[in-house]
This record gives sequence, structure tokens and C-alpha cells, in this order.
Amino acid sequence: MNSLVRRSAHQLSRWRTLCTKPGAPEAAASPGKPSYEEFIGHQQWQARCSIVVQVSSEKSYPELYNYCSRFGEIRGAQHYCVRQDEALHYVLLEYATPDEAAAAIGAGVTNGELTSGVPVRSPFLWFRAAGGGRKSAKLAPNQVPQLLSIDGNRQVEQGHLLELLRSAQGIEEQVQLLHEHTRLNELGIRMRFLAALQVEQAIAGMFPAAQAQPFGSSVNGFGRMGCDLDLILRFDNDMGGRNPAEATAEPSRLVYHTKENLSNGRSQTQRHMECFGDMLHLFLPGVCHVRRILQARVPIIKYHHEHLDLEVDLSMSNLTGFYMSELLYMFGEMDARVRPLTFSIRRWAQSCGLTNPSPGRWISNFSLTCLVMFFLQQLRQPILPTIGALAKAAQPKDSRLTEDGINCTFARDVERVGFRSRNQSSLSELLLQFFEFYSQFDFHNRAISLNEGRPLSKPDHSAMYIVNPLEQLLNVSKNVSLEECERLRIEVRNAAWILESEVENVDRQELSWGLLNLFKHPEKAVIRPNMFFKPRMVEVSDLFEEKQTKEASNSSSAITYKSSSVRQQVQSIKAATRSELKQLQNSPKNRRSSR
Ligand code: GTP
Ligand code: MG
Repeated sequence: MNSLVRRSAHQLSRWRTLCTKPGAPEAAASPGKPSYEEFIGHQQWQARCSIVVQVSSEKSYPELYNYCSRFGEIRGAQHYCVRQDEALHYVLLEYATPDEAAAAIGAGVTNGELTSGVPVRSPFLWFRAAGGGRKSAKLAPNQVPQLLSIDGNRQVEQGHLLELLRSAQGIEEQVQLLHEHTRLNELGIRMRFLAALQVEQAIAGMFPAAQAQPFGSSVNGFGRMGCDLDLILRFDNDMGGRNPAEATAEPSRLVYHTKENLSNGRSQTQRHMECFGDMLHLFLPGVCHVRRILQARVPIIKYHHEHLDLEVDLSMSNLTGFYMSELLYMFGEMDARVRPLTFSIRRWAQSCGLTNPSPGRWISNFSLTCLVMFFLQQLRQPILPTIGALAKAAQPKDSRLTEDGINCTFARDVERVGFRSRNQSSLSELLLQFFEFYSQFDFHNRAISLNEGRPLSKPDHSAMYIVNPLEQLLNVSKNVSLEECERLRIEVRNAAWILESEVENVDRQELSWGLLNLFKHPEKAVIRPNMFFKPRMVEVSDLFEEKQTKEASNSSSAITYKSSSVRQQVQSIKAATRSELKQLQNSPKNRRSSR
């Protein structure tokens, strides 16, 4: 199989150093914030040091610890439950080195009680009762490291979260609390890297260079508890051996015999995925409900992991998604306000039904995140640099080209970009500004470009146009319907209106204040301003613009002007009317009266 990515030799050796060196990767990390690759490398290392053991309850832990200590030094232990009909208990044990974890896995035996099923070696084990009353020698309780009981997937209970937000000192603190209590925790990230490792190890015999890489919200720092795991399976055979020195060595004269695939790239990928789907379904412990979605633009295999209580989307051909996650990770690291702000906006969008876990005609979390990043780029005092600036500051070692030639080169070292934000706005100010900004945004005519950090003319008639940062001829939000875009416009206006009155008039004695009012379901929300005054203004312009869109998209009903000067005049009249309407809507008088 072809490689999905080509890198410089330097980059290759760095990647291998981070991912495969038999020493702890902390040593490789720079003293400041870890880069995306360092973060990924560290998580992969931890996964290789870990095993997951199902136990009858957390009470089994001392005995498990005692038993498993024979394979190496246990550095940490976390207990979690997966709730099916009854609670299933698991302990994640972390050894000091991957070899120790491998020794523990290697010592496992097959379950002789099962009459069917092919025995498979994986980091997912089960701790059975000691036969014949034999028990390992006991350790003194103080020798056993504390067992942390954490949940790696369960979302914080709604009532508890609301109570927390209610008890905050202000909206600023509410935004921070929401982020702290809903973001994916350390265990959640570990579990996701273990799921990836399981796939990688399962095929390692035939594909020793294969890597199953988590990407998306599981690793970009924008994931919440319970988010799905996006996984890309890569077969980088041009990475050659695992020794970095080989990258510069004379090419080997021994070449693997390889089966040639005569079908085209896409159908070949679909066929391979079908095959991997079958393998996961038939042999991998914990993997269930395997679904193959092979006709999508990016074919995926979806499955549920029952030992991790996790939904997984496995792809083999979406490397730009992986690099996009790196960009989002970097944005999140650049300024401490970026992630809390995005969490509040995502939660707001979810609560008013703008987003939905299943894909459809509505805005996706990813597109919404792009809207937030763009907002932070275009501020008078920007909080984030443009992607264009990152690309400009790239060095040769930042060069990345996917198999299909998509250039994903941008500076990985943010210091080199020389960007410093002087923006001092608080989170509550930014939240309000976000809603106000998109209340005014001309979705009908303008496209959002994170590469440029400014709106561009819309190249087609999609309801919402967000230039795909890594494939600039594509629209990230192509799926969004006119109706959903309109709903977004209405909801951001409502949110701006609610939040403005909340900022001015916070009564913390009330049961519901600040963010809580923003998260109310629309039916229960305060009376919408657009039910009275605004809609008339909105409707006129909207009908106007909608008609224009319909005209343009349906050539049979479009007006054709014989004279180009007449067409230009009509267009400029329309533009002037639109901008007058907008000014009228935005005038302080109207905003007040609309309340
Ligand atoms: P949730 O799964 O909703 O928590 O968010 P997510 O960010 O993981 O989104 P999703 O699972 O839909 O997509 C996974 C990742 O793929 C995203 O984080 C992006 O990095 C990337 N991605 C998704 N859609 C696009 C796209 O249209 N273009 C590019 N370049 N990347 C995309
Ligand atoms: Mg995802």
C-alpha cells in the first residue's frame, strides 16, 4: 500500500524518535508547551506501557497489583466502570516501560471456558479468580499505589453542572468551569490511544510500519467527555525500518515482493477497509457494532468499543483531518481563552439544537470551531494568527505533503511566527463579541477564510462558506442548508441579546443567570426579539437575498440582463439596499426597541 504522507528525512527521524524510541518521550519534549507531535508521541508511549484488566470490582485491585507487579514496575492505576446492564469494572495499569506491559500481555492465556472464538493477544485482559484458593503473597497496603477512580467517558450530570455554574462568581468563571468540567480528561485520552494501539498491534504482523493515529477532538484539545474517537490508519511503507539512521543510509537492495492492486485508488481503499472492518468485527476483543460507511467522501468504519465505552470512526484516507487537528491543537495552546470560549459556544449551539451528533444539513462542531477561530483572528486586536501567517513562517522541517499532494505545511513552532496578542478582553466580553460578530456577518455574500483571517467573496451559492484551510478549493460547511444557516443567524442574535442583558444585569440570586440563560432550550428561552420588531427588517432583506440565491442557483428562473451596465446597476441598488437595511437593524434605536 502506498504511504499516505511524505516527509523530509529529518522530520521522519524526529517522528520515529517521538513515537518509537524505547525511552520515555518526556526527554524529547521541549521545556515549554509540548508540540502536537510531542503530545501525540507521549500519549502513544503511555498506551504502549498500559494494559486494561477487567476485574469483578475495584476491591480486586490490591490483588491485581500484587499479581501484575511480577512483570515490572507499575507506575499508576486507574479504575473505571462501563455501565451496561450491570456495571463492568476495569483497571488501567501503567508500567514504567512498554516491554513490561508486553511481558504482562505475553503472560496472558486464552480463556479455556469459551467453546468458540479465536484467541487474540491484545492489551485488553480479564483477571480471573485464583484457582484452588491459591493467592499471591500479599503486599503491605502502603506498598500499593493508590487506585484512582475516574471516569474517562461519562459526561458530568446536567443537574450537577448547572449547580456548579449557578454557584460561580461571574460569567467569566462560568465559562472556565464549563470547560474544566466537560473537557475530555486524562483517562479519556489514554483510553483513546489504547483503542488506537489495539488496531495497530492487531495488524502489526503483516504491517509492522502501520500506525493508527487518533485525530479530531480526542487530541486537539476541543474534545468533551464522551466524544468519539477519529482514527486514521496509515501504512507508511516508505518510512522504511524503525532505525532513524536508516533514513540517511544507502537504500536497501532487498525489496519486499508486493501484490499489485489494479483497481483505482478509491475503490481499492474501500475494498481494504471492508477487509479491515471484517477483521475488527471478527477478531478484536471489545469491538462491536461494526458499520461500514464506504460511500462517503472519506470512507469510514464505525464501531463501538465495549471495554472502553467508546465510539470509533476509522478512516484510511483523510490525512488532512489529522493535520487540521494539529492546527486546532496549536490554536488552543496559543491562548488560554481559546478552548474555554469554544466549549461555551459549542454547548450553546448544542442546547439550541444548532448542532447534532449525527451528520446532516446542520453545522458540524468542526465548522462551528472554525467560526470561533475566525472570529478570534479577525478581531481588531487578534487573539490568533492567520493560517497564512503560519504557512509563511514554515521551515523546511515543517514541510508536509499528503499522498494526494495536499500541502499541509505550516510553522509548528509558534515562536517563529512572532505573533503576540495584545487583546485583553475577558471571556465574557469575547463571548458577547462572538455573537454580535456573527449577528452582523454577511453569510449571503461572504466566505470565511482562516487562511486570510478576513471574509472573502463567496465563490458559490452554498448557504455558508468556510474555506477549508488545507484544501482551499473546498467548503468545510458545504452541508449546511439555507434554513440551518438562517437558524444560526437567528440564534446568534438571540444569544447576543440575552448575553448583553446578562452582562449588564447579573442577578446571581436568581436560579438561572449568565451562561445558564444562554443554554436554555429555545422553547423555554426568553421571548425572542425577532418575534416582534427585528423579523420585519430581517425578512425583507432575507427574502431579497434568498431570492437572489434562488435566482442564481436556478438558471431557468434567473433574470438575464441583456445589458451588463443594467445588471451592474441592479446589483449595486440591491447591495445599497441591503447595507441600508443592515444599518437600520443595527442602529441603537432599533436594538433597543427590539427588546
Ligand atoms: P466532535 O467529533 O464533534 O467532537 O468534533 P471533531 O473535531 O472530532 O469533528 P469530526 O469528528 O467531525 O472530525 C474530526 C476531525 O477531522 C476534525 O477535528 C478536523 O480536524 C477534521 N475535519 C473534519 N471535517 C473536515 C474538513 O471538512 N476539512 C478538513 N481539512 N478537516 C476536517
Ligand atoms: Mg470527532
